Amino acid sequence: MKNTVATLLKQKQSGDKITMLTAYDYTTAKIFDECGVNSILVGDSLGMVMLGYENTLAVTMEDMIHHTAAVSRGAENAFVVADMPFMSYQVSVREAVINAGRLIKEGGATAVKLEGGAEVCEQIRAIVNASIPVVAHLGLTPQSVNVFGGFKVQGKSLDKAKKLIDDAVKIQEAGACAVVLEGIPAKLAEIITKKLAIPTIGIGAGGGCDGQVLVYQDMLGLTVGHTPKFVKRFAEAGDLIRSGVSNYINETKNGTFPSEEHTYSVDEEIIDKLAGEVD
Ligand code: KIV
Repeated sequence: MKNTVATLLKQKQSGDKITMLTAYDYTTAKIFDECGVNSILVGDSLGMVMLGYENTLAVTMEDMIHHTAAVSRGAENAFVVADMPFMSYQVSVREAVINAGRLIKEGGATAVKLEGGAEVCEQIRAIVNASIPVVAHLGLTPQSVNVFGGFKVQGKSLDKAKKLIDDAVKIQEAGACAVVLEGIPAKLAEIITKKLAIPTIGIGAGGGCDGQVLVYQDMLGLTVGHTPKFVKRFAEAGDLIRSGVSNYINETKNGTFPSEEHTYSVDEEIIDKLAGEVD
């Protein structure tokens, strides 16, 4: 069944948890779609997990369109959300609408996601007016890493928690169809989830949200080094890949690959006739 803004909203209303995973290419998107994930996010996290940057700030519109188009070709039923990269919507409402439109027209996404609360409501309103669904993103918004002074949990003081609740209400009023809540205390995410009519999708925001989202390299055990507290490694795909690649190297070097079963044959007669060609 095709996932849409309407089906996601129904899921909130019925208490059926929304599942969202990031993907950045055709093959991965096709697998996740076949598994039945409700939504695929082409996150600007691709800057870190696909392109090797330290954060998401260098990601461009061209990067996002390139990866979103690949994901859209692989996702038949999942609701495809494309991130608006840093500086593609902050400068002006006009630029925000043009860039959101490119992610839909050229990338084939169904919705766009942008970070921020009250300060981006004008952009949300204008993009929604252009008939493009918008997913908002509050809390530990990675594009503000330099303002936060690192990837730090947000909304821990009374003032900051109140501001987040206020922002959540404002982005809903501006027309957002859902909101990602990242890196905030679980109890605060629960309050926001109860207050809003639109679905909340949490990452590091506890189990009280209407759904969850994870970066797939984290949840499949592909990332090395520090794993944030909120990440559960549902598989160790990195080990599987390491083992497969080591087997390939060993078998190629010792001559067991390619064997007969992976080799094309030709009539011996033809080979005999070619015998003179070797010299
Ligand atoms: O870019 C991304 O992958 C995201 C998720 C972490 C929500 O925004």
